[in-house]
Amino acid sequence: MKILLTGGRGQVGTEFTEFIEVNPDLGIDLFVTDLHNLDISDRKQVLTAVSEFEPHWIVHLAAMTAVDLCEDQVDLAYSINAIGTRNLVQAASTVGAKVCYISTDYVFDGEGNTPYREWDRPNPMSVYGKSKLAGELEMRPSDLIVRTSWVMGKYGSNILKTMIRLAQGEGEVRFVGDQFGSPTVVADLIRVIIDLVRNDQSGIFHACNSGSLSWFELCRFVFAQAGADPNRVVEISSDQLDSSRKAPRPKFSVLDNMALRLTKLDPLPDYRVSVAGLVKTLLES
Ligand SMILES: NC(=O)c1ccc[n+]([C@@H]2O[C@H](COP(=O)([O-])OP(=O)(O)OC[C@H]3O[C@@H](n4cnc5c(N)ncnc54)[C@H](OP(=O)(O)O)[C@@H]3O)[C@@H](O)[C@H]2O)c1
Repeated sequence: MKILLTGGRGQVGTEFTEFIEVNPDLGIDLFVTDLHNLDISDRKQVLTAVSEFEPHWIVHLAAMTAVDLCEDQVDLAYSINAIGTRNLVQAASTVGAKVCYISTDYVFDGEGNTPYREWDRPNPMSVYGKSKLAGELEMRPSDLIVRTSWVMGKYGSNILKTMIRLAQGEGEVRFVGDQFGSPTVVADLIRVIIDLVRNDQSGIFHACNSGSLSWFELCRFVFAQAGADPNRVVEISSDQLDSSRKAPRPKFSVLDNMALRLTKLDPLPDYRVSVAGLVKTLLES
């Protein structure tokens, strides 16, 4: 199977590439792209790359992910997250490829208090969420949308690495106790993406580790795993946060992985297992 990967140098893309390299038995011929060799907002570049490689699937990770910057650079956010995605879908059509688009919990407003299902109505609050939803709207019925949340892996920067660094320091740290979600460890997300693609699935799937908690609770959990005192973590509310954070964050963005469950595909493990494993890996590296 030939897969063209976008965003291949990002947090998920780097680990995705490594996973395919160490699993040659999967028989996946991977063409790794990122901004340096394929700017997805450039339609001509996208059409050329896709027609030359002729993939069966495009696994589309590339995005403008800096949520606060998106508020200031609306056109840029849409040119990457919406137009870039449109370009990939159009190019996919020319070679009969399917697209697997990685989307986000930010498509929901977070005003609910029960886990969001794949068929619940999106209502994004931020430019990032709106532009990612715009990308979703470019998908054809045969394409695949995988919505995930609170992604954390071995590469790039993420909040888990920040929490580990704080655990290794001293003194009090403050995290919000009124924003709830589910962590997603990159290795688990990659396994699901590959399962879905190899099963030739289409439609929307939510994919996050099972279990949900607040950032405050996650930080306490990470401190405990890292051998630090969880009581150093102090709970604050969102309105006590730095007001320079421009983008609104959903207060409750737990994703029910209903479609995975109903199609009897393997669920992602509990976050306690996966996050603990990732903390250990990061501490040993
Ligand atoms: N991280 C999360 O918590 C989270 C949660 C839910 C969903 N997601 C989604 O998951 C996907 C992967 O996330 P991630 O954490 O791996 O993001 P990431 O680390 O920010 O990676 C995104 C990649 O896209 C590249 N890119 C930006 N503009 C591009 C363009 N015009 N053409 C081609 N490539 C471009 C970036 O390159 P540069 O670095 O050079 O700009 C970067 O390598 C994204 O679609 C994101 O929306 C992430």
